[in-house]
Amino acid sequence: MPLPSHVRLVEVGPRDGLQNEAQPISVTDKVQLVNALTAAGLGYIEVGSFVSPKWVPQMAGSADVFAQIQRQPGVTYAALAPNLRGFEDAIAAGVKEVAVFAAASEAFSQRNINCSISESLQRFEPIMDAARQHGVKVRGYVSCVLGCPYEGDVKPEQVARVARELYAMGCYEVSLGDTIGTGTAGATRTMFEVVSADVPREKLAGHFHDTYGQAMANIYASLLEGISVFDSSIAGLGGCPYAKGASGNVATEDVVYLLNGLGIDTGIDLDALILAGQQICTVLGRPTGSRVAKVRSAQYAD
Ligand code: HMG
Ligand code: MG
Repeated sequence: MPLPSHVRLVEVGPRDGLQNEAQPISVTDKVQLVNALTAAGLGYIEVGSFVSPKWVPQMAGSADVFAQIQRQPGVTYAALAPNLRGFEDAIAAGVKEVAVFAAASEAFSQRNINCSISESLQRFEPIMDAARQHGVKVRGYVSCVLGCPYEGDVKPEQVARVARELYAMGCYEVSLGDTIGTGTAGATRTMFEVVSADVPREKLAGHFHDTYGQAMANIYASLLEGISVFDSSIAGLGGCPYAKGASGNVATEDVVYLLNGLGIDTGIDLDALILAGQQICTVLGRPTGSRVAKVRSAQYAD
């Protein structure tokens, strides 16, 4: 399959990147991060989550973040909603697009959202109805598509079943998440081949955590499978609170560098992106997880 000429990146740093942080991060710092990502040219930013603050305390201030960000026309600022309550809170905060999240493994579904896969899908139905009434688009996630921290191997057919249901209930795109980052390029290709029999490739996205250092290879494998939407996290921040040891998503800076090298357009300014990453890493007091940013920052310092 020919490589796409354009790739859309979904920046999940402010949500997936920060949700696992134990230290308090102020609303102001989160707002600055979202504004810096907007300035770098990202067209889609997942800003926060409307989940239980007992489950994910770091996302508790998401409504305040939404109230203070400077929204640019043409940029989507999205949030996660696990149930109708979360959806309604998101709408009250002025959110125009939400994401629902299911899993391909039963054990992960229980740990992450305290219900079975089929219960979670039932819970999403009223969200889909309400979203239609509000004219809000809904993106779907499937976690653990290439392995589960509790169950181990996950069959591509299990992923296809959940992705198919999310697509059928009205999710305009389904992001397939290698939550624990154990997937390889071969497994990634097989998984997309199987799932694309049920959901068109142009409606699928790849969401790779880089725990085993395979995310870049998996993105390239996905491109070869005709996938042209990828989730990534500035400075490689993150991990999942319900997947112990999982590292951050693949770093946005590194993905942009890869795509630039392939002549694939993203509309993103790499230097501005690196700056956004430096700012949030200073806030967190931690080195960047982006290889590209590490080298470039050292060059600027010379
Ligand atoms: P539960 O305990 O079963 O729910 O949690 P409940 O209905 O019994 O409610 C318990 C309490 O939470 C109640 O409060 C509710 O009011 C409150 P209390 O009476 O005890 O004071 N509550 C809420 N509060 C705020 N917002 C809400 C909400 N709903 C209930 N929306 C629930 C079920 C789904 C709420 C919980 O399990 C939860 O919030 N889970 C979120 C977990 C999460 O955010 N995980 C990380 C995101 S997923 C991810 O990272 C993977 C992804 O990146 C892709 C990949 O990498 O694979 C997307
Ligand atoms: Mg994730």
